[in-house]
Amino acid sequence: MDNTFYIETWGCQMNDLDSQRISGQLKLRGYRRVEQPSDASLLLLNTCSIREKSEHKVFTRLGQLRTEKGRGARIGVCGCVAQQQGEAILKRAPYVDFVIGPGSIGYLDEALEGRSRVVVGFPDDRHYDFLSLDRPSATRAQITVMEGCNKNCTFCIVPTTRGREVSRTFESILAETRHAVETGHVEIELLGQTVNAYRSLVDGRNFADLLEAVARTEGVKRVRFMTSHPSEVSSRLIDVMRDQLTVSRFLHLPVQSGSSSVLRRMKRLYTRERYIEIIETIRREIPGMQFSTDVIVGFPGETDDDFEQTLSLMSLVRFGSLFAFKYSPRPGTPALKLGAPVPDVVASNRLARLFALQETIQQETLMSYTGKTVEVMHEGFSRNDPSVLTGRTDDNWTVNYSGDPSTPPGTILPVRIDEARHYTLRGEATN
Ligand code: SAH
Ligand code: F3S
Repeated sequence: MDNTFYIETWGCQMNDLDSQRISGQLKLRGYRRVEQPSDASLLLLNTCSIREKSEHKVFTRLGQLRTEKGRGARIGVCGCVAQQQGEAILKRAPYVDFVIGPGSIGYLDEALEGRSRVVVGFPDDRHYDFLSLDRPSATRAQITVMEGCNKNCTFCIVPTTRGREVSRTFESILAETRHAVETGHVEIELLGQTVNAYRSLVDGRNFADLLEAVARTEGVKRVRFMTSHPSEVSSRLIDVMRDQLTVSRFLHLPVQSGSSSVLRRMKRLYTRERYIEIIETIRREIPGMQFSTDVIVGFPGETDDDFEQTLSLMSLVRFGSLFAFKYSPRPGTPALKLGAPVPDVVASNRLARLFALQETIQQETLMSYTGKTVEVMHEGFSRNDPSVLTGRTDDNWTVNYSGDPSTPPGTILPVRIDEARHYTLRGEATN
């Protein structure tokens, strides 16, 4: 069998990017990527452990893939479940050949060459080889600026699975940005668990400095970044976002709850009032800014009143989009001991009410674009209908539109919006 690999990716953007790294590393070693497990000599699951459900999924999926072992294929588990469970995965699924954590992707050979079946360290040198990244998008490059998280929110497993914060050097990020632009990736997305906590240890430059430098790099047309922590939004960062026109008018700013008492117990390091103040300041400085957020419902001890405050915050801020989840207890996290669990029916009911409110807000927001002409970065053709072009607005809405099919990807063009769909906009290029 020649060397072929199949990789499945779950979870956040950091995992997406880790898969791009793994894929690039394998291609360098002569592997070819295939889309069917049955065609692969190496099967990889890049896993997520943010909630219990995602973690269970791993073992179900491994059970299904096990049959591929019969023809001599190897199976590897990567990502956060690999990090968290390590050796325990091999105990529970002994047919797994190796386990490799997110901090050890630069050490893939350890596993590939059979020197070690469990590679889960956080070495100081992460061997970050951006030249071999296998980027799936022709126009957008995701660039890691820092890994890990030092915030230790009481519900979250990320500090365990991804380790302490480590920022890359300023120069290596700029070099990667220049390389991305040279290969046509005119949209840059800077990634980190708390991206705006970035600090170059060598010279003290911070995220605002980095964003400014990336935004000014020749050829960069758009810059996004994820995920920002509200306690790390400085006034200098807001100034850079306002003054650098290539910085997207869109910010993902997870709030988690609208109740200061819940936020305190989550150890989020800001209050409801402070969060609202940040949003208001940004909107004042940068008109037209869109926000999205993450919310957890049913955090231990969350009362009806706490939840009402989350609803009222949603109505006040009017996020463009929302990612909301029921609280899921994670091993070893402090929240396990923080007050009475909220019954599942109550949490489900709260989640449904939250989504219903968001649905209305989102529809109204999308409707407000109809009749307007917006700038869209052309990305390619719609997956559902190849006669339709697709791209995204500066404030991150997907637009499907009719226009010249020979438009080169990465071009920014005016599109008149005719219709608001469920999550997307529809229009016609007017250039
Ligand atoms: N670093 C980012 C993202 C962390 S994980 C941040 O600062 O927010 C992504 C989202 O998953 C979180 O924002 C949170 O809403 C959700 N999440 C994390 N742990 C969770 C848990 N134990 N139960 C339910 N949702 C959780
Ligand atoms: Fe998790 Fe909080 Fe960090 S949500 S990733 S511990 S900022």
